[in-house]
Amino acid sequence: MHFLITAGGTREYIDPVRFISNASSGRTGYALARAALRRRHKVTLITAPTGLRPPSDAKALCVETAAEMFEAVKRYFGRCDCLIMAAAVADYTPARPPGRKIKKTPNMLTLKLKPTVDILRWAGTHRKKGQLVIGFALEDSNVRANAERKMKEKKLDMVVANTPVAIGSAQTSVEIKSAGGDWLRIRRTSKAVVAAKIISLAESLK
Ligand code: CTP
Repeated sequence: MHFLITAGGTREYIDPVRFISNASSGRTGYALARAALRRRHKVTLITAPTGLRPPSDAKALCVETAAEMFEAVKRYFGRCDCLIMAAAVADYTPARPPGRKIKKTPNMLTLKLKPTVDILRWAGTHRKKGQLVIGFALEDSNVRANAERKMKEKKLDMVVANTPVAIGSAQTSVEIKSAGGDWLRIRRTSKAVVAAKIISLAESLK
């Protein structure tokens, strides 16, 4: 299979030298890429900035912003068999970032943000050749209910629910649900173990 995997946290620039981002380490997305390669799949990894080195057998595309990630996903989605959106994509981006560095003043500063495109939702509704679409759901309450809502709204084949403690950490606990299947709980283990499970579930859905 050809896996298209996104990883890392996007950066949304408020001026040419400053950005809003999040605490994603990219570890889950990179672990997924390695797990798919280990199973001899083809991997395209679209990565926002991380401190990690992409696996040499993957085709890696580096992006920064949610808009750049969307362009890259659109470019490769038609050629993949399975998209896994493991990236922490910003939901908002500065509405009109100035072309010059914002100057300090003694006054309060208000930033106006506009919504970004929900890449996962776009993919769930634009698959023309039966690609699998797998998303993550980061929830701090009502984990299963919220994740199932996202799964339905974004028309996903599988959702992987996790909680904020997983962000930036080497280990994670997740709950996984495939469309029409039951919830599967994986308790505190390495992201490599979770990634291998997600890849094998994706194989079984194809
Ligand atoms: N996602 C995306 N494009 C965005 C935002 C999120 O593709 N602009 C994807 C993420 O990669 C993840 C999934 O959507 O796979 C869920 O992200 P999450 O932050 O949990 O949910 P949101 O849909 O952004 O909703 P909320 O933040 O309100 O919980």
